[in-house]
Amino acid sequence: MFETLNKAPIDKIFKLLGEFRADERDEKIDLGIGVYKDKNKHTPIMRAVKKAEEKILKDETTKAYVGVAGNKGFCDSVSDLVFSDSVDKNRIRAIQAIGGTGSLWVLMQLINRASKGGKIWISDPSWPNHKPMCELAGLDVQTYPYFDNETRQVKFDEMLACLDKLSSNDTVLLHACCHNPTGANLNNEQWDKVAQSLKKTGALAFVDVAYIGFGEGIEEDAYGLRKLASTLPEMMLAFSASKNFGLYRDRVGVAFIIAKNSEQADITFSQMGNIVRASFSQSPDHGAQIVNVIMNDAALKKEWEDELKEMRMRIIEIREKLAKAMRKKSNCADFDFLTEHQGMFSLLGLTKDQVDILKSKNAIYMLNDSRISIAGIPMDKVDEMADALLSVL
Ligand code: LMR
Repeated sequence: MFETLNKAPIDKIFKLLGEFRADERDEKIDLGIGVYKDKNKHTPIMRAVKKAEEKILKDETTKAYVGVAGNKGFCDSVSDLVFSDSVDKNRIRAIQAIGGTGSLWVLMQLINRASKGGKIWISDPSWPNHKPMCELAGLDVQTYPYFDNETRQVKFDEMLACLDKLSSNDTVLLHACCHNPTGANLNNEQWDKVAQSLKKTGALAFVDVAYIGFGEGIEEDAYGLRKLASTLPEMMLAFSASKNFGLYRDRVGVAFIIAKNSEQADITFSQMGNIVRASFSQSPDHGAQIVNVIMNDAALKKEWEDELKEMRMRIIEIREKLAKAMRKKSNCADFDFLTEHQGMFSLLGLTKDQVDILKSKNAIYMLNDSRISIAGIPMDKVDEMADALLSVL
């Protein structure tokens, strides 16, 4: 049977990671995959996570199944973290899923059940896995204008004009903060306008929340999603604990829906449970327990918030240093957008050829659209990085 298959494309993020790992040059720099790196080029286990794991190992008495909906304490804690009091909790339902991707997957399947082959609008550009996932889920993928290659900011007027034309048959996938891959984000006033547009057209908001705490701070980064939650009758949200809890390989996520009322929420939740059971039965519990322990212990929660802040501040510092070095060496402010962007990524605007040269000549690895993962730049290599960038421009 396998002879009927053609070779499938490899995801470009993990392809690049493979190339980076195979490169034997000591000075190589990984700006590809979106994982946080500390000053030693290491992706650490967060201190609060280690402590929570020790507690779990000590207290845990069974590995029996948790259930299809997953760890309820974990889902409730994430619900508080994300929504705070922006919406009546009776309208929210949450199911644990396998990372942010698993959560997106459950919700994409849900769209397909509610509206077969429904249209979903993703930003141009968006996270490279959004489109293939939507297609695999059987949805009709369209793009809305998002990033202006000249200003390196959001082209908001065009985006809004597109959203204003949608209808209640459409779903709009939005990045809550720290847009991946561009780093360019909506400001609060723009979020208010998006919320009003979706309210007017009835299009369904679907928010991808993978970087909360990496932009300006947890509350600030949650502004947009909370605005949507408090304005709209219905909404979907996929949460990932990969980055802000550093639980990448543990695959920790939650799929949320907000319905018009509690009865509608129960019906929708039954469909989510049905999707999870038929897809992967239920999610692994270890990472969910970690988050639950941290969020329900005041000291550990504070320690987690402090470390998240350290990570955020380090990214901001690298952004400032690189922009400054580029300004000084090039005598122009063309790279100042680095300090206006937020979160793990910035899209630099290099050509594929320029990206290839940086890889082969300087051992600097970035995605072929020139997305860089900022935390991968060692602080003592910022000058070299600026020289390398200027050498290909
Ligand atoms: C990324 O965009 O690099 C991360 O979100 C990792 C992934 O799964 O793609």
